[in-house]
Amino acid sequence: MQIQNLAYIGVETKKLSEWKEFGTKVLGLMIAESSTEDCLKLRMDDRPFRISLHRGKKEQFTFAGFELRDQTALNKAKEDLKKANIKFKYGDKKLAQSREVQELITFEDPMGTIIELFHGRTLDYQRFISPVGVSSFVTGEMGLGHIVLPAADLKKNYEFYTKILGFQDTDYMSFNMGDADKDFSAGLHFLHCNNPRHHTIGLFESPHPNGLLHLMIEVPNLDEVGYALDRMNTAGISLQSTIGRHTNDQMVSFYMISPSNFAIEFGYGGWQVDWEKFTPTISYAPSIWGHEFQAPE
Ligand SMILES: [Fe+2]
Repeated sequence: MQIQNLAYIGVETKKLSEWKEFGTKVLGLMIAESSTEDCLKLRMDDRPFRISLHRGKKEQFTFAGFELRDQTALNKAKEDLKKANIKFKYGDKKLAQSREVQELITFEDPMGTIIELFHGRTLDYQRFISPVGVSSFVTGEMGLGHIVLPAADLKKNYEFYTKILGFQDTDYMSFNMGDADKDFSAGLHFLHCNNPRHHTIGLFESPHPNGLLHLMIEVPNLDEVGYALDRMNTAGISLQSTIGRHTNDQMVSFYMISPSNFAIEFGYGGWQVDWEKFTPTISYAPSIWGHEFQAPE
């Protein structure tokens, strides 16, 4: 199957009102008109929403929606899932309406996150107006950004995302941690789909109770990153990592803690790769400069 991009994500949260403040005043996202009392939908562009926050009993990353080109592509995905013995459900009309898509299917990844594959996203051509004046986000055919998922069983998850969902290798990073005599390493696969974004999915060999390590959203220039850093400080939001430039995707970014305890990487300058001319790499360092991770408060 061929996935075009990550189109939306869904999160269960007890903290809808905090998310409303954080999403609009810190991230600069726009509240979608289709939001309800129990579901806050945030827009980044002309798509009906990019982040869907659902009132619940815990903080949990619940679903990731991936866009396929058309019905033929979705039918091919169904055949591939059947061949791989992955059970999927057909999304009913109500679910399709709530995601604002023509047709979708749903199934779980090895970590229990719901994967939604769809075609035919609805566009309402409403103008994106950021409540704090963010000029735009880097989205379009590259989707909303990237997500890094906790994958305690790295091999199983890597095989699922590459062999079944059709993601391809961009980079493999190995982190050495701990003392010299008790050294252990953790792996991180960076995977891309059918668009130039350096990676749409990261799989990190570590547990995380909320199901998501971070979501990256991208702005078109450095000043927008700086403005966001100022808004984070004004709002009293915790920094997870100082500003820095990543090695592999060259992104200049900082990380802050969202109300649901996963991080938001806010960055610019991510490498848009011509895959015809690219060969996958292996890295041992995450950043060229900066990105000092802060101890949790
Ligand atoms: Fe990232």
